Amino acid sequence: MIMQTKRDRLAWLKGGTALCEAPPKPQSSPRRLVLLGAPGVGKGTQAELLGLKLGACHLSTGDIFRSAKAQQECERSPALTAALEYMRRGELVPDETVLALVAERVRCLCCEGGFLLDGFPRTVAQAEALEKLLQEHKVNLDAVLSYELPLEQIVSRLSGRRTCPGCKAVFHIEARPPRVEGVCDHCGGKLYQREDDRPESIRVRMEAYERSTAPLAEFYRQRDLLVPVSADGSPEDILERSLKALGQTRKPAGTRPRPAKRARASTVARP
Ligand code: AP5
Repeated sequence: MIMQTKRDRLAWLKGGTALCEAPPKPQSSPRRLVLLGAPGVGKGTQAELLGLKLGACHLSTGDIFRSAKAQQECERSPALTAALEYMRRGELVPDETVLALVAERVRCLCCEGGFLLDGFPRTVAQAEALEKLLQEHKVNLDAVLSYELPLEQIVSRLSGRRTCPGCKAVFHIEARPPRVEGVCDHCGGKLYQREDDRPESIRVRMEAYERSTAPLAEFYRQRDLLVPVSADGSPEDILERSLKALGQTRKPAGTRPRPAKRARASTVARP
């Protein structure tokens, strides 16, 4: 099934009692995937494309923080306000805060439409907590798509990125430009450049990735869930590669794809 519209994902973005205006249709064998890779490798772009193909929701922890940023300061919890400061500097938000936000949104992980987790988990502690949460709710992870690209290409993707504050759609000024410059194709929102895409924040984010997130490739390889995918080429090429790596045909619930090849120690490919 191909979905044509972008979902609002209100239950994920707002948490609490928020409900999605158009919940995903229940799938007979919903896809439940984690997208792993360095900042800017294209996880969000792939999550959007995979979501249209697989009918599963794109759940990004970064989007939760960016939605909170648009709220009045008095509407945010002190932990969320502190989280935005970490994010602005390019540092990881403490595990405790991230895990509390994800636990509040556990019904999105149990959704019968499936999920595409982007930016979570990001540390081994988060991966262990996710594993426990999914086990408690009797939900299986199908695979972890691990996107790899040389560092110089990643930096160029980040510096040209433009994001929609309304529907969170992501564009690139050269590789994926909007139809009208500065305007979101989906909802007409005014596109902006993320604060953490400044050079000094990018450096901090890459260091945090190498230190805390790269070891997750080994964590998931040991569980036979890791599926490495080259993130070189156009978003559509990468989508096709991702679907092929996932085996194209849908797996019965509870089965796991075999990794396409053995993972490298770091998922940032060096030029
Ligand atoms: P988050 O929002 O998760 O950001 P990130 O992981 O740094 O990833 P990005 O969103 O920057 O990149 P992406 O891989 O999704 O690439 P995209 O598709 O946009 O996190 C932000 C911050 O929040 C963190 O730094 C941290 O502070 C905090 N945080 C979030 N989750 C956390 C957690 N679990 N624990 C602790 N802290 C957490 O693509 C990038 C650009 O490239 C776009 O312009 C796109 O159009 C373009 N592009 C994509 N694909 C291609 C292609 N194939 N060819 C050319 N251009 C392309």
